Amino acid sequence: MNSEALITTDIDLAVRALAADGVVAIPTETVYGLAARATSDKAVRRVFDIKNRPYDHPLIVHLSPDADVNLWGVFNKDAEALAQTCWPGPLTILVPRTTKVSDIITGGRTSVAIRVPAHPMAQLLLSRLDDGVVAPSANTFGHVSPTTAQHVVDDLGSLVDLILDGGSCSVGIESTIVDCTTDQPQIVRPGVISHEEIQMIISSPLAAASGPSRAPGMLASHYSPRIPVELTDTFQEAEDLQKSYSQRNIRVALISYTESAMYALNLYRDLRQAEDDECDRIIAVLPAPHGIGVAVRDRLIKAAAPKTNTAP
Ligand code: TXA
Ligand code: MG
Repeated sequence: MNSEALITTDIDLAVRALAADGVVAIPTETVYGLAARATSDKAVRRVFDIKNRPYDHPLIVHLSPDADVNLWGVFNKDAEALAQTCWPGPLTILVPRTTKVSDIITGGRTSVAIRVPAHPMAQLLLSRLDDGVVAPSANTFGHVSPTTAQHVVDDLGSLVDLILDGGSCSVGIESTIVDCTTDQPQIVRPGVISHEEIQMIISSPLAAASGPSRAPGMLASHYSPRIPVELTDTFQEAEDLQKSYSQRNIRVALISYTESAMYALNLYRDLRQAEDDECDRIIAVLPAPHGIGVAVRDRLIKAAAPKTNTAP
């Protein structure tokens, strides 16, 4: 099958496919999502099946900026402040769900994750569809998230009905997730909107991000390329390692950026490029643990973790 036939820039075609319970990969500013109408259990189930994702890993509901978010979740003061300040944008807020949200989306949980994406094509699609869409990252379960339409083709190909091409994602890593289901909000997945920024917006002190994660599916191994990843603290260390590998004819891709936002933007593309180049190893230099660097470190550490607890 010709994979190019799957890719389109026609938003109305994507809207029609979703309205007919199809599964469509859509661009967002963070990463590409695998979208299905949130009010169709049949379509939502297909998303889990296509990704090979366990049913107990709940999905994010994506809404248009003109949607009434209160129809989907119950927003306390902190959740409301975050929504006001950060939406549309790369932030997901966990709130108690309403009866509009089905069990299949949340894996039976009483909370729902909601996000209003900033990508203009995603916004047009959502407002023309006049419904929410669930959208996990459009990769196979455990693999690196896609930041271009071609990445989606490479992972899921003809398993999806359509891929809406919105170019390269402008953020490059998944949204920050803040749990606002209790009066002690907690960041359950770091992202480009940092701990410091979130704390400035909300009135309650953020709970420390220690102990068991409140978000199911936060496995130790995740965002993971098919070749081993090794991490270093400095560029010098990475270069020395690379030299010693090349002496043994081991092909290495070295990933390093001095600026964390650039690191986030390019990380997944670089990991996938190393796979395409058939490198034997990836060496990545950890950025400093400040601001966006926290999120990049989180993804790198999971990419480097042994693959013992991802799905087969
Ligand atoms: O940037 C993003 O967030 C991208 C784009 C496509 O929007 N989406 C994304 O979705 O990263 P996904 O499914 O790959 O990751 C969503 C995470 C999961 O790890 C899940 O555990 C958590 O959100 N989550 C979703 N609903 C939840 C709930 N009700 N309670 C706790 N965690 C939840
Ligand atoms: Mg994902």
